[in-house]
Amino acid sequence: MLKKLASAIVLWVSSLLFLAMDAHTQEQANIPSLWETFTPMFDIGVAVEPHLLNDENTPHILRHYRSLTAENCMKPNALYRPDGRGHFEPADRLVAFAKEHGLRLRGHTLVWHNQTPAGFFTDEAGNQLDKDALYARMEAYMTCVMEHFRDVVYCWDVVNEALADGGEETYRVESPWYKICGKEFLLRAFQTAHRIDPDVRLYYNDYGLLNPDKRAKAVAMLKELLATDAPIFGVGIQGHWDIHTFSPQELQKTIDAFAELGLDVQITELDMSVHHPGNREALDGEKWEYTSEIEARQAEVYAQVFEVLCRNADRISSVTFWGISDQYSWRNDFPKKNRPDYALPFDRNSSPKKGFYSIVESFSEF
Ligand code: XIL
Repeated sequence: MLKKLASAIVLWVSSLLFLAMDAHTQEQANIPSLWETFTPMFDIGVAVEPHLLNDENTPHILRHYRSLTAENCMKPNALYRPDGRGHFEPADRLVAFAKEHGLRLRGHTLVWHNQTPAGFFTDEAGNQLDKDALYARMEAYMTCVMEHFRDVVYCWDVVNEALADGGEETYRVESPWYKICGKEFLLRAFQTAHRIDPDVRLYYNDYGLLNPDKRAKAVAMLKELLATDAPIFGVGIQGHWDIHTFSPQELQKTIDAFAELGLDVQITELDMSVHHPGNREALDGEKWEYTSEIEARQAEVYAQVFEVLCRNADRISSVTFWGISDQYSWRNDFPKKNRPDYALPFDRNSSPKKGFYSIVESFSEF
């Protein structure tokens, strides 16, 4: 009797699970595809890690994105080896996936102060390299990496985050690149990349570019580079925004400013945190909830973003979300470790949120 009851319960629970799963899978299959929706305007991409390219995530990735960026595995701390041969195994899994499914691949990133091993800037004895030696290393590293990915990567973020956030300084002066070479490392990086692969598109990539001061610094820097014929194809506006301070007007001004310089624009790392950027702490133990009001507010802000992007579609070639779902978003650990965030249009089960629908609807208005 007890046995029968137990197996009836098991059967009941598993059929419930089956129904739930089925509803989830069906919902996934029935919603519009992001890349199909926006294809007439720009590419839709996503940042991924190789271990996420599994059976569970693959249908979601293929349904919504046509372009990939390596979230970490193509950065210098992942690829650089002092013997100059490069550590390519994880990134090559991404490459194989992109090739198998015909996806585009953005290269991210070559010259950066962050996620670059300290040893990149020193000799074997641990002494800091001088300018010439660092340029030689830059060239050797770029050659190794750009040659390796040549047949699959269509663009590179050549220099990432060289600008200072606040204050008078234009450049991030504490970067080892700046300390050793001064601002001329930027021109050198673009020239070197172009010499290695004249066909690949070269981008400058940064965050905070909606801030008028930082935008002005970016424009000044880019003008100077363009005046020296630096082979820059475009600018990546990272787009790590939040629902409290995002301004569609500032986004428009930033796109205008870069487009007026004749540069292509890409949104390279889009997410929309629900936390205030001024609050870099945990939420003081208070029970914080992602309410349906906050989700609705986030959807409004995502719609504002895409309304601007669609209006400027002729100047924007690609829009990349920084993560496939809230489950895998770096915002859960940045700026505060272990503070859940809800920054993407898909929830922790990869189900569409209100923001997903508002993004898709923003297209139908054009
Ligand atoms: C982030 C990744 O998402 C994290 O997993 C990693 O721990 C740190 O870097 N600007 C960039 C990206 O250009 O490379 C960063 O990615 C986010 C900020």
